[in-house]
Amino acid sequence: MGPNPVWQTEALTDVMPLEAGMRVLDMGCGTALSSIFLAKEFGVEVWATDLWVKPDENLRRVAESHVQDQVHPIYAEAHALPFAEHFFDALVSIGAYHYFGTDDLYLGYYSRFVKRGGQIGIVLPGLAEECETLPPPGLEPYWKWDFCAWHSPAWWRQHWEKTGLVTVKVADRLPDGWRDWLQWNEACDRDSGAPEWEAQMLRTDTGRMLGFSRVVARRNS
Ligand SMILES: C[S@@+](CC[C@H](N)C(=O)[O-])C[C@H]1O[C@@H](n2cnc3c(N)ncnc32)[C@H](O)[C@@H]1O
Repeated sequence: MGPNPVWQTEALTDVMPLEAGMRVLDMGCGTALSSIFLAKEFGVEVWATDLWVKPDENLRRVAESHVQDQVHPIYAEAHALPFAEHFFDALVSIGAYHYFGTDDLYLGYYSRFVKRGGQIGIVLPGLAEECETLPPPGLEPYWKWDFCAWHSPAWWRQHWEKTGLVTVKVADRLPDGWRDWLQWNEACDRDSGAPEWEAQMLRTDTGRMLGFSRVVARRNS
């Protein structure tokens, strides 16, 4: 659904160590490709949680990938998660956290589901730095109002650290993330008609402002 979720998940796990047997929440997993990747690559158990993609559809995909014992599709809204507190070793979210996580109070809710000392990691579309006014100069023809939820790594660091609930270990941009995004967009365009304006936006920007923010934190005790 988002720009290649497996590439983004791989980039997250470069800086977010996972061990076999860990319990991982994949929040906003979409078609669960990131969940399947995590199960296969790291031997973790994943709760593949999403709102727009129904769990029976994801279960079919999970079974076709032979990880039905490790990946559990769940239908849930991000503010009403059906899990016990401290249940997870790690919370992962790819291309989704900006839909619900920019609220100042959300991390306080979300972080309760990970153990003390457990990890919380996100990769999502973002800006290199915050702009005083939006759209960023040059991107006016392509800008949609909801891109206002795209934020810089520094913004996310401050957004999370001001709660005192977590310690941010990494807040950076994926190296050359815009190139991956564009490559994915062009490949989808050939297959299924991904929007040409989005590719044009990325070509115009050439990574100056657009890319992926990556943030990893540990829950404080
Ligand atoms: C752009 S898609 C990304 C999906 C997938 N992670 C990927 O990278 O392909 C964003 C996902 O966020 C999920 N999402 C958005 N708002 C949500 C909410 N309030 N609660 C749960 N999931 C939500 C949607 O269901 C959707 O699948």
